[in-house]
Amino acid sequence: MSRVVVTGRVPEAALEKLRAEHEVDAWQGPESIGREELLRRVAGADAVVSLLTERIDAELLDAAGPQLKVVANVAVGYDNIDVPACTERGIVAANTPGVLTDATADIAMGLILMSTRRLGEGERLIRSGQAWKWGMFFLLGSSLQGKTLGVVGMGGIGQATARRAKAFGMEIVYQSRSEIDPQIAAELGARRVDLNELLTVSDVVSLHCPYGPATHHLIGAEQLAAMKSSAYLVNTARGPIVDEAALASALREGQIAGAGLDVYEHEPRVHPELLELENVVLLPHLGSATVETRTAMAMLAADNALAVLSGEGPPAPIN
Ligand code: GLV
Repeated sequence: MSRVVVTGRVPEAALEKLRAEHEVDAWQGPESIGREELLRRVAGADAVVSLLTERIDAELLDAAGPQLKVVANVAVGYDNIDVPACTERGIVAANTPGVLTDATADIAMGLILMSTRRLGEGERLIRSGQAWKWGMFFLLGSSLQGKTLGVVGMGGIGQATARRAKAFGMEIVYQSRSEIDPQIAAELGARRVDLNELLTVSDVVSLHCPYGPATHHLIGAEQLAAMKSSAYLVNTARGPIVDEAALASALREGQIAGAGLDVYEHEPRVHPELLELENVVLLPHLGSATVETRTAMAMLAADNALAVLSGEGPPAPIN
């Protein structure tokens, strides 16, 4: 029997699966586990099942001890994990790709609709109790039909977002490290372009790339200036891909028409200027937040941990 530390609350089914084979120490507090408590609890762990709110770095790996074999993140993004530090210590790192693709693409599409059709503004207006009535020019937004979606990062979530946008009549361009499956590109009618072209031709730019040193502030003042003044930016990936101060100023100055954000540069803090602007939709990191998806993510993370503990390769390794 090995010792598995789970750093936050996860669906019960995943805990049961882990408990069937191992001793499980799962943080059950309503708030996130504090750093000190986390460092104390991981001592002697053979596996750590981590949430994206916890930093899994060299200090934590060393606090766990040399018996630690696997870190299984309950997320597809793993910028909270120091993967090279895991690799150096012979620790397997794993994530949860695939199972949250549709849920996250749904939120991206939701943000595209919310921002282009001004749904947040409309909701706020009704709730504020202000008088309103139907009007020919009242809260006019922008149609999607015939417009161009630029997908930055054409992995599973980018492709799933493109598929949804195509159903809304949008043309697709994308920027990605590699060419996608030609059959999928043909089905989507998707054309690969460089970031600069994508920014200049797109009516909506949706971010789906991983976060790391190469994508820090990928979208900054210069990139926002390259976008059409009628265009929208949507981010369901990771906050620091966008320079939030530059975005707030581009939105305020009308350099772009609007934005929809599910993630923030200094999460959970939101840049104070964004809170003052009508032309930005702000969601609290809900990309994968469905009962079904969170259950599937936790089960996959449990499977990753269990596989490594029984000497096998995990279903979704990172390193
Ligand atoms: C959520 O943000 C994830 O990376 O799974």
